[in-house]
Amino acid sequence: MIVKLLIYDTEKSIRTNEFAAEVQAGLAATRRYLMPKYFYNDTGSKLFEEICKQPEYYLTRTETSILMKYKRDILGICGDQDISIIELGSGSSLKTKILLNEFVSNNKKIFYFPIDVSETMLNDSIDKLSTEFKNLRVIGVCSEYASGIKEVNVFMLNHSDVPESKLLVFLGSSIGNLDPVQVQKFLTALKEQVNYGDAILIGFDLQKETTILENAYNDKAGMTAQFNLNLLARINRELQAEFDLSFFMHEAFYNVKQQRIEMYLVSTCDQSVYIRGLGKHFSFKKGDRIHTENSYKFSLEGINKLAIASGLRVIKNYTDSRNFYCLSLLSRVPDTSETGK
Ligand code: AVI
Repeated sequence: MIVKLLIYDTEKSIRTNEFAAEVQAGLAATRRYLMPKYFYNDTGSKLFEEICKQPEYYLTRTETSILMKYKRDILGICGDQDISIIELGSGSSLKTKILLNEFVSNNKKIFYFPIDVSETMLNDSIDKLSTEFKNLRVIGVCSEYASGIKEVNVFMLNHSDVPESKLLVFLGSSIGNLDPVQVQKFLTALKEQVNYGDAILIGFDLQKETTILENAYNDKAGMTAQFNLNLLARINRELQAEFDLSFFMHEAFYNVKQQRIEMYLVSTCDQSVYIRGLGKHFSFKKGDRIHTENSYKFSLEGINKLAIASGLRVIKNYTDSRNFYCLSLLSRVPDTSETGK
């Protein structure tokens, strides 16, 4: 039996104005920026799926291979009880299917809560899951991460048949798109969402040779460039702006000191762009840049430190043979006050 249910973020309409306010703030800043969360409208989510298929973008393939290799081990650590799997930024749910398969074939009762901002993505992936899995309950949550987890909690409180034991999944190294302060806050908040026996599975892209990293964000087919430029197309559509996409160029490079890929949209000429929805013109000189994304790369030591600082501990780090990528299985550390120490 598959139960397909979609929960919508109740505060979504308020956030339409948030987009306008954040574009305005980003384009008015001395160092211009646009927030990477706005990449993921329906077109952006589909373009991201294309990026994942590019030969240079090793992240998805490597993470999939690690999941395939260690799915039994992960299942073993999660124990034999029924489980609720909550996935942040589920996209096509392709990689999570590997885990779902393993859990379902071990006769566990599974509730799967994919959380994603793209309704089209969510609907497509739930439809596909429904043809593949007979014994899975899927409750899709169309929302950003924080509000999505809240919606899941409310659902769990109101439905006594949902397994209490949780596996929180955050794949694709999306954690790398947060800055160090945000990561710390995010992991601490995640910790609050789990109990002591629960597990959190997070994908981290590891530090490596600059060329490999830069090629991954400058694929020959130009998918990453389209993905980046789609931000301007989205502003055109949603805020009635007049960006000419052919006057901007994709740029991505590795900042060794900061250990991150930085992505920009670069103006290829002097220009002024009107955004009707904001009632404002923004001028760009040739070479002016809009910072659109950081993608941090981690070390095993760094992951361990991050976990400890967030009240978590690494149960196990699963890596590939080239040490390109790490899937970390984490759990909550009991507060010292609760252990009586
Ligand atoms: C979603 N996130 C982990 C991707 C990354 O690698 O930082 C987004 C992306 N940006 C450009 N290519 C892929």
